[in-house]
Amino acid sequence: MDNRPIGIFDSGLGGLTCVREVMRIMPGEDIIYFGDTGRVPYGTRSSATIVKYVRQDINFLRSFDIKFIIIACGTASSAALPHITTEYDTDIIGVVDPASKRAVNATKNGRIGVLGTSGTIKSGKYKKTIGNLNPEIEVISNACPMFVPVVENGYSDTEIARILAEEYLEVMVKNRVDTIILGCTHYPLLKNTIRSIVGSGVTLIDSGAAAAEEAFRIIKKDGLLNARKDGGHAKYYVSDTVHGFEELGSLFLSKKIVGDVAKIDIEKY
Ligand code: DGL
Repeated sequence: MDNRPIGIFDSGLGGLTCVREVMRIMPGEDIIYFGDTGRVPYGTRSSATIVKYVRQDINFLRSFDIKFIIIACGTASSAALPHITTEYDTDIIGVVDPASKRAVNATKNGRIGVLGTSGTIKSGKYKKTIGNLNPEIEVISNACPMFVPVVENGYSDTEIARILAEEYLEVMVKNRVDTIILGCTHYPLLKNTIRSIVGSGVTLIDSGAAAAEEAFRIIKKDGLLNARKDGGHAKYYVSDTVHGFEELGSLFLSKKIVGDVAKIDIEKY
């Protein structure tokens, strides 16, 4: 038993797709969430900058007495996690390994699509991880740089999102992938739009949810589950104004988080 909270972070709202799943499968856990809304997006930045941001995000979460960290950001998991894993004595996981495993198990025709930010796709991390799991699988990747601003500004279910999705998904449809990894944790917020284009025959892998499941497996195996069976609390921190995050976050989590969000100065960490 370990009643300390789990730390989860992302560049913004996207990591809430992981929080939602942690709340569902580990309802007794307390959560400290950090959304780096003052510096979103991460996906268009250099690897050195992402590593710097990720160290600060982890330092902030570690200023609480936490037991486990989930990097609920595809970009940070791809570009920074390999550089920082040995720097901390806290258990840290990202989204790439869990999502890749899920996709490899799901595909029937051996053609997996990966959607992610420019940083994630450029890193080649998904392609490499899937290749290590099964070298016969063909991986078709595409960067979707406009998706994160669309989500962060509340335009997920609009015509703008649809026009962008049609363009980004064309290569997936053409290559007849039967499984698509939503390799950026913001993208499940666009699931309805993406589903309407690729159809019901394609399996969509939610990378934040896959990471939550992997965290559950490790935390349970290590005997670190919270003794509480229900009623975990979540506290949210952001690096810019709390307002947009409170509103969109409440909508996405289907629960009111107004009053539970505080602004911090991430540059201090
Ligand atoms: N949710 C992040 C990811 O999974 C957002 C990327 C960004 O900030 O560009 O990649």
